[in-house]
Amino acid sequence: MFDLKLTNATLPDGRTGLDIGIRQGRIAALEPKLAGEAGQTIDAGGQLVSPPFVDCHFHMDATLSLGLPRYNESGLLLEGIQIWGELKPLLTQDAVIERALAYCDLAVSQGLLAIRSHVDICDTRLLGVEALLEVKKRVAPYIDLQLVAFPQDGYYRYPGAIDLLNRALDMGVDVVGGIPHFERTMADGAASVKALCEIAEKRGLLVDLHCDETDDPLSRHIETLAYETQRIGLNGRVNGSHLTSMHSMDNYYVSKLLPLMAEAGVSATANPLINIGIQGRHDTYPKRRGMTRIPEMLTYGITCAFGHDCVMDPWYSLGQADMLEVASMGLHVGQMTSREAMRQCFELITSGPAKIMHLDGYGIAVGNKADMVLLQAADPIEAIRLKAARLAVIKSGKVIASAPRRESTLDLPGRPASLDASRTGPR
Ligand code: FE2
Repeated sequence: MFDLKLTNATLPDGRTGLDIGIRQGRIAALEPKLAGEAGQTIDAGGQLVSPPFVDCHFHMDATLSLGLPRYNESGLLLEGIQIWGELKPLLTQDAVIERALAYCDLAVSQGLLAIRSHVDICDTRLLGVEALLEVKKRVAPYIDLQLVAFPQDGYYRYPGAIDLLNRALDMGVDVVGGIPHFERTMADGAASVKALCEIAEKRGLLVDLHCDETDDPLSRHIETLAYETQRIGLNGRVNGSHLTSMHSMDNYYVSKLLPLMAEAGVSATANPLINIGIQGRHDTYPKRRGMTRIPEMLTYGITCAFGHDCVMDPWYSLGQADMLEVASMGLHVGQMTSREAMRQCFELITSGPAKIMHLDGYGIAVGNKADMVLLQAADPIEAIRLKAARLAVIKSGKVIASAPRRESTLDLPGRPASLDASRTGPR
């Protein structure tokens, strides 16, 4: 007897016609024509059942604050940071919690059930830290929320940041963050990378730095990050976020850098929606795209992810917690258009970030957590193409969100009366 059974599922790896039996919040069986009764049965109808979407790079303390106290008219990263600086003293804990919870509702409706959020610690009140620790507790039954202690205004550059970062970690923030390219000098940036990795080693924590989010090809803190990871023995525990300078680096230098990252097991997160908007702003034409070199990193076996970064905040006005939209943008910007590369883009919003976050029991396999999403799509490529509807979002074996199939009614002479975009394939 199962609590829930999904029948006739297609999995992201291409296996079809599988039934998934769920018992006590875990996947108990995965086979065709699974025998045994179930409390509830969902017919997947041959459509894609994926593990939940994972966003390993987000800023939940700022989300949904768009327009407060003013809009970012230039669209520049630095104006965003300036507006955030103006908003910070006006924040209240209740408002941050309310916005974060509203974002988590949206995330659940989109099948996004694990999020790593940076939280700005450059605030003597540590208001955002307190608020997001509360949110983490409240959403724990349905979202794995991991927090990163992020010194937005610089670990050395912001007075008191060293103490504040340690206090945030003492309070229970999970991951050590940083922003080496924003320190006053390259030397300070490199020193911050060393200090932050040492803190992580001492506390047994993971590291995730905003690293080289600039078009300056000489911003090479990722090299120091790979070096320190190797030196301290943090292999597999460190992520470099953004890494946009790599887009502009000399190819010869990158040919040395990528093997160093692979050797140290440093992973990489690109944020395509944000960086296609923010990078190359000092260029006239041609304008650089600014996304880091994801396809090349994948060939070196480096674990990669696409993150959402921002939704309706001082840096980015759009977004709807839709990781398929993120993957679609990454696919286009990275020119990842081969069949294999498009499937990889789906992995960059599921298994890739799950590995970066060290999520336990993730994936559609017997024994794993019964967390999954039924999509109105035949396969991962179609899911990205259609930003497919999330027909059912399942957490611990329970449906926590659902949506009707997306279908339009037509009134055309001699044509069908309705249209389901997921059935409109090549013919
Ligand atoms: Fe970020």
